[in-house]
Amino acid sequence: MSALQKGHLLSAGDLTRDEAELILATAEELRSLADRPIKKLPALRGRTVVNLFFEDSTRTRMSFEAAAKRLSADVINFSAKGSSLSKGESLKDTALTLEAMGADAVVVRHWASGAPHNLANAGWSRSSVINAGDGTHEHPTQALLDAFTMTRHLGTGPTKSIDGRRIAIVGDVLHSRVARSNALLLQTLGAEVTLVAPPTLLPFGVETWGVQTSYDVDAVLPKADAVMMLRVQRERMNASYFPSVREYSRRYGLDARRMATLQDHAIVMHPGPMIRGMEITADVADSQKSVIVEQVTNGVAVRMAVLYLLLGGSEPAVSTHSSEESPA
Ligand code: NCD
Repeated sequence: MSALQKGHLLSAGDLTRDEAELILATAEELRSLADRPIKKLPALRGRTVVNLFFEDSTRTRMSFEAAAKRLSADVINFSAKGSSLSKGESLKDTALTLEAMGADAVVVRHWASGAPHNLANAGWSRSSVINAGDGTHEHPTQALLDAFTMTRHLGTGPTKSIDGRRIAIVGDVLHSRVARSNALLLQTLGAEVTLVAPPTLLPFGVETWGVQTSYDVDAVLPKADAVMMLRVQRERMNASYFPSVREYSRRYGLDARRMATLQDHAIVMHPGPMIRGMEITADVADSQKSVIVEQVTNGVAVRMAVLYLLLGGSEPAVSTHSSEESPA
């Protein structure tokens, strides 16, 4: 069964192409709301969304909170970082609590890969589970917001297809749930993905991902339509994966000189948080080619679309009548 039918969004790989395109099209309708003075719709009135975060997050948690609130859902934020309970117990007990509180959707970020799957599949709770990042495994809504941003800038035809577009994902692929979810979703949408990293930062078994790999960023950039830079996730590293920061930046960082080798229409992306001066220089991050701030805006629209489609709001997501048009 596909992701939306199961009522959960656990992996970007669970989405069929039709589902992914439906989410992107719904997000496009909802995106217009970001430019209106009043950003609220009644679609999820009376529903409860719980943000369950076992790991630090700024933009993802705020983005889900903004998305749920713009659809008029009630939001409960639960930050469980530092909990000393063992993984299984804490998740089960939390799930039972959420069930008792009547949560309709649980947005979960967890340091353990697979935690959202346990929550969804163990039968502890009837809520929709949305994976907001599990360990080094997946981050499907980030992949959706990245794809959405690409369709806006690079999409062609009436459906804004990114079929055949070349996407380079550069940096610490080994520890990146963003890279894995993007590799899965972008292939579903017909794009061609190249992962670029030093050999030490490419995951074991990457040849089964169905993507290209390269150690040479300078060879890949001139052909790319989008380049996505990844943060070096030092908090997940227990060994030395490269000689020095300076050496890493020199070999894999995106600076103005490298950016100049990109095609005119190519865009520069980053999921955040950025380490300016390491994987990306400040001038590149703030350049005309950078869509990094827009990714954050798009993230709210995409998460609204996911919540709306999973919770099957009883009112249309976007009303076709503005208040000015309705009779007095
Ligand atoms: C990423 C994450 O947490 O996986 N950030 C995000 O969600 N926007 C990437 C990272 O931490 O580098």
